[in-house]
Amino acid sequence: MTTPVPQGKAPRRWLTRLSAISDMFAFPLRTSHYVELVNPLWTTHRMHARVVDVWDETRDARTVTLKPGANWRLHRPGQHIRVGIPVDGRHYTRTYTISSPPERDDGCFTITVKKIDGGRLSHHIVRNLKVGDFIPVGLPQGEFYLPDASPVQPLFITAGSGITPAMSMVRSLIAQERLPDTVHIHYAPHEFDTIFGRELRRLDQEQAHYHLHEVHTRQAPEDQNHFTEAQLERLCPDWRERDCYACGPPALLAALERTWDAAGLTQRLHIERFRADFAPIPDDAVGGRVRFADSDLDVDADGETNLLRVAEDAGLNPPHGCRMGICHTCNTTLTAGCVRDLRSGDFINEPGAIVQVCVCAAAGDCELAL
Ligand code: FES
Repeated sequence: MTTPVPQGKAPRRWLTRLSAISDMFAFPLRTSHYVELVNPLWTTHRMHARVVDVWDETRDARTVTLKPGANWRLHRPGQHIRVGIPVDGRHYTRTYTISSPPERDDGCFTITVKKIDGGRLSHHIVRNLKVGDFIPVGLPQGEFYLPDASPVQPLFITAGSGITPAMSMVRSLIAQERLPDTVHIHYAPHEFDTIFGRELRRLDQEQAHYHLHEVHTRQAPEDQNHFTEAQLERLCPDWRERDCYACGPPALLAALERTWDAAGLTQRLHIERFRADFAPIPDDAVGGRVRFADSDLDVDADGETNLLRVAEDAGLNPPHGCRMGICHTCNTTLTAGCVRDLRSGDFINEPGAIVQVCVCAAAGDCELAL
């Protein structure tokens, strides 16, 4: 007796076989490498996306609409992707949150990128990326998203480009017509440079369940231009009953953690960081001579610039991902000397220790297996 083949499986199996046969002729590459030359979206060995639209949200933030290629999977609102782009002959990788809801029916998604000072990739995306470009992307990932079931009453607290995951969540809940009673406190320098400002204000007008409070940090009086518990009580008196989803700079997130911890409500605070939380640089921090042993390169570094940046500025292209101490893609071995973990301020000086170069700086002379 033969087992029935589920519909759709047979053609896929044939495609897999066909691809295996053509791969034999394409060796040492794969057929997918040649397909990439025709249309990068058809490749299977790595994923690309095509830029189909760019839209300037503010003078230094841009939304890029991307059409992903084969093997893409839908994101959950709040998740992020890795984007890798060659700039000036070197390949840079960054993580950006998806700002669109998964309910789009054109198969596209958007990322919204703010240009940061000295940020090579954000500068390239905001200033140079154009419709028709192809960029390598990773699959959506991350744990920062709303639960599927149990309707929660969200409180979003966001600042600057930290609004992107919340925007994806709000847009998705509206698209599903199940937006619960939602309070959103958003911090931006001015009204005119608020990312998604017009859309947020329109939602506040049109959606009965969506309540927006904007704090313009360079326009508000000094005692009201940053997060305080008193401000929270005023803007959202029932915050203790809500699940808070927050994304923004380290100082804001640290203040939220203190407030929710003190209230014994740590479980109700969900945080997404887009920058590592660095300890203050001590006054007596010193750098040193850094040797990248595998590259046979010596450079001088100060005591506060992360060693990934030091390596890149010296012309190296070390593997990296998040640049904030999460993914461990940049791990390397300390072979001699001392480095300082910029998050904790702790020294690492044992030969053989693993160093995350994106969050460590030189603390005297040191040698890395890079
Ligand atoms: S790049 Fe992700 S941990 Fe360093």
